[in-house]
Order: sequence, then structure tokens, then C-alpha cells
Amino acid sequence: MNGSESLAKREQWGSRIGFIMAAAGSAIGLGNIWRFPYLVGKDGGAAFVVVYLIITLFIGLPVMIAEFAIGRAAQKAPVLAFKSLGVNPFWSLIGWTGTIAGGFLTLSFYNVVGGWTIKYVIASLTGLMDVANAGNSESFFGHFVGQSYEVVFYQVLFMLVTMGVVIGGVSKGIERACKVLMPTLFVIMLILIVRSVTLPGAEAGLKFYLHPDFSKLTGETFLDALGQSFFSLSLGLGIMLTYGSYIGKEENLPSSSAWTAGLDTLIALLAGLAIFPAVFAMGFEPGSGAGLSFITLPAVFAKMPAGVIFSCLFFLLLFFAAITSSMSLLEVAVAFAIEKFHMTRKKALYSMGIIIILLGVPAATSLAGYPTIYGKAFMDAVEYVCNNVLLPIGSFLCAVFVGWFWLPQAIKEITNDGKLQFRWLNTWIWCVRFVAPIAIAYIFYAGLKW
Ligand code: PFF
Repeated sequence: MNGSESLAKREQWGSRIGFIMAAAGSAIGLGNIWRFPYLVGKDGGAAFVVVYLIITLFIGLPVMIAEFAIGRAAQKAPVLAFKSLGVNPFWSLIGWTGTIAGGFLTLSFYNVVGGWTIKYVIASLTGLMDVANAGNSESFFGHFVGQSYEVVFYQVLFMLVTMGVVIGGVSKGIERACKVLMPTLFVIMLILIVRSVTLPGAEAGLKFYLHPDFSKLTGETFLDALGQSFFSLSLGLGIMLTYGSYIGKEENLPSSSAWTAGLDTLIALLAGLAIFPAVFAMGFEPGSGAGLSFITLPAVFAKMPAGVIFSCLFFLLLFFAAITSSMSLLEVAVAFAIEKFHMTRKKALYSMGIIIILLGVPAATSLAGYPTIYGKAFMDAVEYVCNNVLLPIGSFLCAVFVGWFWLPQAIKEITNDGKLQFRWLNTWIWCVRFVAPIAIAYIFYAGLKW
């Protein structure tokens, strides 16, 4: 600990609800609305959903509690957290992989897709429906990403908006924005669901989504579900560790984690409910992969009455979801610069922001074909390294550290020094010691193909 001065200066969340909104804001993102539904479409519908729920409960949630506990005990950004705990310096590796993968690499490509959401809100109002009606939503998307300057423009715009919020700090910037954006997101989602499930022919989509056919399960289903659960809950990249460091000592960590993971899962499930009935009702296929949101859905909206409004609302929803997540990623980089290099928040924000924007440029242009790394587009390569290598390494080490090397302190932290009853303590211990490390090691091994 560096004396009471630095502790006194450390920011904290303004309220419990504000903190949960911010953590849920980080978790709820493109992963829930863009990635989760397309994985459901690709991996066999409801059976994937069941696997996803089980994994989130027994692996994702326990690791989230562990990350919050480390963060709150250390009161530091991930890179310095383990030093502050006084443990073997080896464990700082968790902080470094998280900060590099989350604060820098993930954010650099997350911005690019975040930029697409702004482009699509504007396009929805300026003719996207006509284009999609003529069957051209795929070529529209291809044309857009093929023109690098436009993609870069929106990427930078998205990043500037993110920076504009994060400059306000933890409680006055991030927390305040999330307290408005998350409820708004929820209301938009409900409007879209009502529209979707009341379309004639929606039942086929509901059946696909809610009626599990376990014969469709494959090894890939488990792999995708585990990777998605970690990505969706913002785990393994130092985010929840950083957010944990701003939590007050009296806060109930397991309950806050359950709220965060519960809201995240709820929004992913609702996104499917908004999307699949409409996709089926309009006669489209759910298995179009990453193009589901940006290619299939505009075509679906174009066939609906008042499609412009629903298209605009959907991409606005995607934008809100993305921006609250990118704030959390940027906060990791900013907290790192403030604590490691003793910068002011402003200086940290500008310098980290510029680095991240520059890192995002090759990701943005790579969609048009250049640059590539060993045959993969730069953006796909960075995403691969983050999601398939650094994220599993970070979360594996985190579970092993807490489960095997820091358990008594973790229990003290989670129970607020014994003042709090945690009914599932033994299940949690079992999950962080055995279930999570074994499962993560398995996805890491099985997911390693370039
Ligand atoms: N959880 C966010 C989503 O589902 O889109 C994305 C994300 C944010 C992933 C932060 C990882 C992270 F550290």
C-alpha cells in the first residue's frame, strides 16, 4: 500500500446501483446483441442457450466474483494490483495480459465495430431500408467496410465519444452515463421484442430459440459458449478487476456479481427474443454468422411496416451497448497510465486514447484487405489473439491464483471480513479451484487453430 494519501484520492462508485449499472454496462455490449444471437443461430438454437446458461452460472460468475475480490482488496489497477497484495510477482502477469489485451488490443477493434453502429443509425435514416428492400444489404455492408476512410472516420468518432465520457472519471463520467444509458437500452429492447414477437409467422423463430434439440450439440457448441460467456461478462481482461478496485468495502461482492451476470444474461436472452422471431417471420435464415446484425437484420427491418424506426432503434441500442463497454476497456488503459506513470486523468486519457485510435486504424483498414497477419485480416488476427489466447490465459491464471494461492484472503474479501454470509461459498470454492481452470484450459487448447 502506498500510504493513505493515494488511498484517499482513489475514486469510488457513487452508489451500489450506479456500480451495478456500470459493471452491467461493461458486460452488456456488442457481445450480447451482435455476437450471442449469431452464435445461437450458428450453433443450433436453444441447445446452445442451455449450455451457455450452465457455463455462465458455474464458470463465468465464480470468476467474476474472484476478479472483483482481487480488485477491491488491492485498490489498484490490474498491473499494480498483485504487488499491492504482496504476492509473488509472477501473478502480475494477470494484470499485464489483461491490460494489454483489454485496455489496448480489444478496445482497438471494438471501436471499429462500435463505429459501424453509428454509421448504421445514420444509414437507417438515410436510405438503408430502400437498399435492403432491393436485396442489397450485403453489398451495402461490403461497400462500406471496403472504403477504409469511412470506417476509420466512424472508428475515431466512436472513440472520441468514449473518451468524452471517461474524462469525467469513474462516478461522474462512467457511472452517470451508464445510469442513463442502461435503462434506455432496456426500454428500446422491450419495444423491439414486442414488435418482433407480434409479427405473423414469429412462432417458428420462437421455437428455434426456445425449444432445445440436444442432438445439435457439438464440441464447438461448448467452446463457443465458454468463450462467449467470458467475453460477454467482460472477464479475463482486467475490467472487473479495475471496476472492483472502485467498490466500497461494505459492498456485497457475490450479490453485485450475481446482478451483473444476471443482467448481462438477461439482455443476451432478450436480444435473441428480439431477433429470431423477426428473422423467421420475414423468411430469413438465422445462421448467417457475423453478418446477422449488419446484413440480415436491415433486410428484415426493410420488410416491416415502419422499418426505418425499428432499424434506427436497433442500431441505437447496439451503439449504447457498445459505448458503455468501450468505456470500461478505456478505463483499464487510463487507470494503468494514471497509476503506473503518475499521469493526471486528462493526460492519461489523451495519450492512451491516441495510442488506441492508432492501433485501431490497421484493424479498420484490414477489412478492405490490408494489412494481414499470416493470412488473417489484422482485425481478425487481433481478435483471435485476444479472445483465444490472452483472455483464456488471464482468466485461467485468475481462477488458479484465487483458488489455490490466495483463497483465505479471497474468502475474507468476499465475506467482508466475516461480516457477510455467502451461502454458496463452498460451491464457489469448488468452481474456482477445479471447474473453471479445467474448463478454461480445455477451451484454450481446443480453440488454438489459426
Ligand atoms: N462484454 C462486452 C460485450 O459483451 O460486448 C465486451 C467486452 C468488454 C469484452 C470488456 C471484454 C471486456 F473486457
